[in-house]
Amino acid sequence: MSAQNTAVLPYGPGAIAEAARLIAAGQPVAMPTETVYGLAADAGNGEAVARIYAAKGRPSFNPLIVHVRDIAQATEIAIFDEQARTLAARHWPGPLTLVLPLREGAPIASLVTAGLPSVALRVPAHAAMQALLDAANRPLAAPSANASGRISPTRAAHVLASLGGRIPLIVDAGATAHGLESTIVALTGGAPRLLRPGPLDLGLAPARAARIEAPGQLASHYAPAKPVRLGATAAAPNEWLIGFGAIAGDATLSASGDLVEAAANLFERLHEADAAAPPLIAVAPIPAAGLGAAINDRLRRAAAPA
Ligand code: TXA
Ligand code: MG
Repeated sequence: MSAQNTAVLPYGPGAIAEAARLIAAGQPVAMPTETVYGLAADAGNGEAVARIYAAKGRPSFNPLIVHVRDIAQATEIAIFDEQARTLAARHWPGPLTLVLPLREGAPIASLVTAGLPSVALRVPAHAAMQALLDAANRPLAAPSANASGRISPTRAAHVLASLGGRIPLIVDAGATAHGLESTIVALTGGAPRLLRPGPLDLGLAPARAARIEAPGQLASHYAPAKPVRLGATAAAPNEWLIGFGAIAGDATLSASGDLVEAAANLFERLHEADAAAPPLIAVAPIPAAGLGAAINDRLRRAAAPA
C-alpha cells in the first residue's frame, strides 16, 4: 500500500470530528479504548474493514470485535439470551467481549465475522471511543492497532511506530487503563466458554480449544461444504467459478482486480458458491501481494480437506 501521512491528534472534539469524517469515508482510524488502542472502521462497510487488514498487513482473516454504543445497538446485531443480557447489563461498558449468534440481516459486513454465523461485541468504557461511536453513528470493527506480529499498543506512540504511514489518523488519549485486550466469552450454545482471558475475571476456565490453539486461531473457521479448486482459469463441468479480474466466472470477487474489493466480497462469494447448484467450487488465481496474502490464506484453508 502507498505511504500516507499519519496525523496524531489529541483526543477532543476536533479529533473526534475528523475521525468520524474518515470513518464515513471508509477509512480506518486508530482509537484509544480502556484495553488497548484499536484500529476502527465502519463494521457495515466491507471495503473499510478490508483496509484494516491492509494496514495491519495481517496474513490471514480472523473475525474482528464489533464495538457498539450500548446494549440496544448490540441487539440489532446479535441475538441475546437471558445469560447474555445479564452479563452485558453487569459489565458493559467495560473490557468484556461477548461472542453471540449473529442476527439475520444484521448490518455487519461478512468480512467482520470472517463468514461465521456468530459475532463478537463489546461496549467500550473509554470516552474517546464512545464519542466516536456517537459521532460516526455506526458499529465499529476494531482489532488492536498494531501491525501483524507486533504486540498490542497501549500508547499512541506504539501505534505510530507500528502503523505510521499506513493509516490517516491516530487519536491520542495517553496510556490505556488496562493495557491488555478484553476478556472474550462465547455464548453460542451451552455453558459460557472463555475464549480469551483478559482484564475481567469471570471465574471461567479457558475453553479447551483456546488453550491448544495458537493465538488468534479459532476452533471453527467458516469453510464451504463443497470441494474447492484454486488457481482456476476456467470452470470445469459441475464447477461454480468465482472470478477475479479478467476471469469473470459465475460471480466475481472483483471485476477490476481490486484486492480491497475482493477481500470485502470473499465470504459473500464463498457462501453463494456453497448455495449454488454446481457441486464443485473453483476460484480464479489471486495475486499474492498485499491483501492477496490473506485472501489466498483463507482460500487455501477452504480448499484443504476438512
Ligand atoms: O480489547 C480488545 O478487545 C481490543 C480493543 C481494540 O477493543 N480489540 C481486540 O480485537 O482485541 P481483535 O479483533 O484483535 O480480537 C479478535 C478476537 C479474535 O482473535 C477471536 O479470538 C475473537 O476475537 N472473535 C471475534 N469474533 C469471533 C467469533 N465470531 N467467534 C469466536 N471468536 C471470535
Ligand atoms: Mg490483536
